[in-house]
Amino acid sequence: MLVPTEKKKSMAAASPQGRWAAAYVAVGCALGAALLLLCWDSPVVAGRVLRAVPLQRARALAGEEKPKRGHEKAPAAASPQCNVCPDRRFDCAPEKILTKEQCEARGCCFVPPGSRPSLGQPFCFLPSNYPSYEMKNLTSTERGYSATLSRTFPTFMPKDILLLQLEVRFETRSRLRFTVRDPAKTRYEVPIETPPEKGSAAQKLYDVHFSDNPFGLIIQRRSNGLVLLNTTIAPLFFADQFLQMSTSLPSQYIFGLGEHLTSLMLNINWSKVTLWNRDASPRPGGNLYGSHPFYLVMEKDGSSHGVFLLNSNAMDVLLQPTPAVSWRTIGGILDFYVFLGPEPKSVVRQFQDVIGYPFMPPYWGLGFHLCRFGYTSSNMTRLVVQRMREAKMPLDVQWNDLDYMDGRRDFSYSLKNFGDLPDMVKDFHQKGMKYIIIVDPGISSSSPPGTYTPYDDGLKRGVFIMNATGQPLIGKVWPGPTVFPDFTNPEAFNWWRDLVRNFHAKVPFDGLWIDMNEPSNMVCGSMDGCPDNELENPPYVPGVVGGSLMSATICASSKQHLSSHYNLHNLYGLTEAIATHNALVDVLGRRPFVISRSTFSSHGHYAGHWTGDILSTWEHLYYSIPAVLLFNLYGVPLVGADICGFSGNTEEELCVRWTQLGAFYPFMRNHNDENGKPQEPFVFSPEAQKAIRKALNLRYTLLPYLYTLFHKAHTAGETVARPLFLEFPSDPNTWTVDRQLMWGEALLVTPVLEKGKTDVTGYFPPGTWYDTAAGTAIHSKGQWIILSAPLDSINVHVRAGYILPLQFPGYTTEESRKNGMYLVVALTEDGEASGDLFWDDGESLNTFMKEDYTQILFLASTNVVLSKLIHVNSQVDGLTLQLVKVFGVPNPPWKVLVNGVSSSDFSYHLDTKVLSVENLSLSMGRQFVITWTYS
Ligand code: NOJ
Repeated sequence: MLVPTEKKKSMAAASPQGRWAAAYVAVGCALGAALLLLCWDSPVVAGRVLRAVPLQRARALAGEEKPKRGHEKAPAAASPQCNVCPDRRFDCAPEKILTKEQCEARGCCFVPPGSRPSLGQPFCFLPSNYPSYEMKNLTSTERGYSATLSRTFPTFMPKDILLLQLEVRFETRSRLRFTVRDPAKTRYEVPIETPPEKGSAAQKLYDVHFSDNPFGLIIQRRSNGLVLLNTTIAPLFFADQFLQMSTSLPSQYIFGLGEHLTSLMLNINWSKVTLWNRDASPRPGGNLYGSHPFYLVMEKDGSSHGVFLLNSNAMDVLLQPTPAVSWRTIGGILDFYVFLGPEPKSVVRQFQDVIGYPFMPPYWGLGFHLCRFGYTSSNMTRLVVQRMREAKMPLDVQWNDLDYMDGRRDFSYSLKNFGDLPDMVKDFHQKGMKYIIIVDPGISSSSPPGTYTPYDDGLKRGVFIMNATGQPLIGKVWPGPTVFPDFTNPEAFNWWRDLVRNFHAKVPFDGLWIDMNEPSNMVCGSMDGCPDNELENPPYVPGVVGGSLMSATICASSKQHLSSHYNLHNLYGLTEAIATHNALVDVLGRRPFVISRSTFSSHGHYAGHWTGDILSTWEHLYYSIPAVLLFNLYGVPLVGADICGFSGNTEEELCVRWTQLGAFYPFMRNHNDENGKPQEPFVFSPEAQKAIRKALNLRYTLLPYLYTLFHKAHTAGETVARPLFLEFPSDPNTWTVDRQLMWGEALLVTPVLEKGKTDVTGYFPPGTWYDTAAGTAIHSKGQWIILSAPLDSINVHVRAGYILPLQFPGYTTEESRKNGMYLVVALTEDGEASGDLFWDDGESLNTFMKEDYTQILFLASTNVVLSKLIHVNSQVDGLTLQLVKVFGVPNPPWKVLVNGVSSSDFSYHLDTKVLSVENLSLSMGRQFVITWTYS
């Protein structure tokens, strides 16, 4: 039976079953008519999703036999219906390989590999009549529905929960949430704050329909009837440690589910993505440092929706060509959010409405950062800074890795090699620079009692994660034996803040780099191994690198304040990031700057991320683009990869190209491994240095625009670096582009990603694009265009219709923020453009909320460029506009007026059609008008 959302609508929607059947066919059978004939028995294909599965005999059987660990007997006596399209088969042997007999004993279907060409589909699969839950007592609630779901007899997984509670909430007109819980027992739920609904859900963009037996939920886009999500395609599993919900996808254009080394778009051809935070050298297919159980789908008409499963347990997400997705998690509850967009930008914002908008970084954080593992003394670190200045390279932030520590222990420094560390930092500050240190969560536990405060004090305050016997769990990280703070314990926040405060009193660092926080452990589980229990050895282990949950981390069954590590593991980095963010706010009283390796949804609200131990290869140079773009979709705009690569030796050309691309990472840092050849900008040939200097200066020139983008991310949930499809969703050519990126709406970056190349091909969506260096125009119909790309340049194009606020670069942001500003005005054919600037002191907390900022609009139309002051504070005093470059001026201007006064300081290039109005001295805090006339 179909139970629609609204009573009145319900009958109308319920009656024409044929309409639904048609929808399912459209969703389902990509294989076309030929397979339809072969696979007539599939519920989706046959459009018989609405029928009830006959379960009578099965119920009787279930009464006869109670399962112990799993139920290996066929759940239904009804013979399994096995004629299921290959692409639409759902795995019946997720946890182990089964023989034909074992598979059939589960009541499943077995098609041996080899009898048909296997494309990766499971050969032991669920029959189309495999029993699922039945929905009962559907009732309307204030903002949605609730119902019970009951399963009459168990599945093959142990500890099925036979009675469940379904809640469907219409949170906003574009956001729906549905949860499935155990009504009899409180299960673990992710402890991140989610906002209450804002405003009404009237005029919803979605309709919800139900199937009662087997239970199913169908979400449809109201405007065009497209089924976005249909859970009836496979049975629901909800056992204590195995929860699985499969849903249809309306297209194969699906993005997200990080963190992995991947192209932008996910592969739906039988792929499995695993979410279990792990310290690993990035390679395709392996689970990595962070987990973001969120995907965004592009629908065929350019609309978009997103789905977020708020669950932090280890999980696999399976993608198959149906197209369909199966969320398979080993704990918690099912807590889904669906975002209806309809623009992909809106999907990202709606997701961030739930997980929190990004924090506002300090201005200096957007400058260039330099680091390596292996600056073994303060002298060496000072020398690096000096050589950067000698090479005339901008540098804002110098970092030290573990090397500065005493015995690699947090919150200590080596008196031998870094004896003058406090003075070194003060010297950097005098140069207008900032300084960042690494801190790992593993706290050394082997120093003699009374000699290492972080451990002694932490022990007293009970802040460390406990093992099964109630003792602090001891693992091994850089300093040797270590314990791990439990950042879900409020006392750990206090303890951490005290450590940050005390150390900052000695070494006045400006930000913190939190590494190894998956948490990483160099022994499996602990120095004493892990107990043998259900949490360490769940009935289903997701496809984690290393094969077990304890691999490279601590025991899953270790105990944290809020729950077991089994439930909280994926939140370790996030909770450390929150503790560190809060500690810095308290200690510095300024905007915090935290870069973390491990992340979970909502991380961007507190900190940034770098993509870990990537290789110094051309391939990893490419992978850094989808990584940066995806983290922007996850609400973590402050992200970058180690420029020139981390592991292995870089080479000059690669490093030049990497710095050019890195100039467009929202977070720009060159970082190197201990054993790699040096890769600081100044070690290369004069020619390479020139190219790197140019890239760095370009970055610094663009900082006012970049900062304004961060402000929009912070206040409006926008992305900073973004995939082309966010700007051009109705152009399907853009959907898969991941060798280019955009900054905001206006800039398109086309880097060289291949060795030995001096040209590059990029996609240019329809419209006019101006080369930012020369101002020459490309008029694209939506084409791939070959661009010249000599080694000293990167192609950056500005989109017609936009105005970029820029500034002449200095060696630091402190310097460049005092320099003259200039505008690049990129006119449309109609002579129009607009842009804006957000400006504040660059470091105080909550300047926007406190209204302590300046915001200026820039507008151009019919031979006029002017500014409009939206909000002004004293920070813009002394800031002057010195140059305006207008791209796309069709004819040579005869006269230029600046605030009504004729100016002779202008030039016009006939070939490029660029008008430059020079030697201006206009206060940014005052409105200005520049006009030009033709003869
Ligand atoms: C692992 C980090 O990913 C890397 O960036 C760092 O250099 C090493 N740990 C040493 O701290």
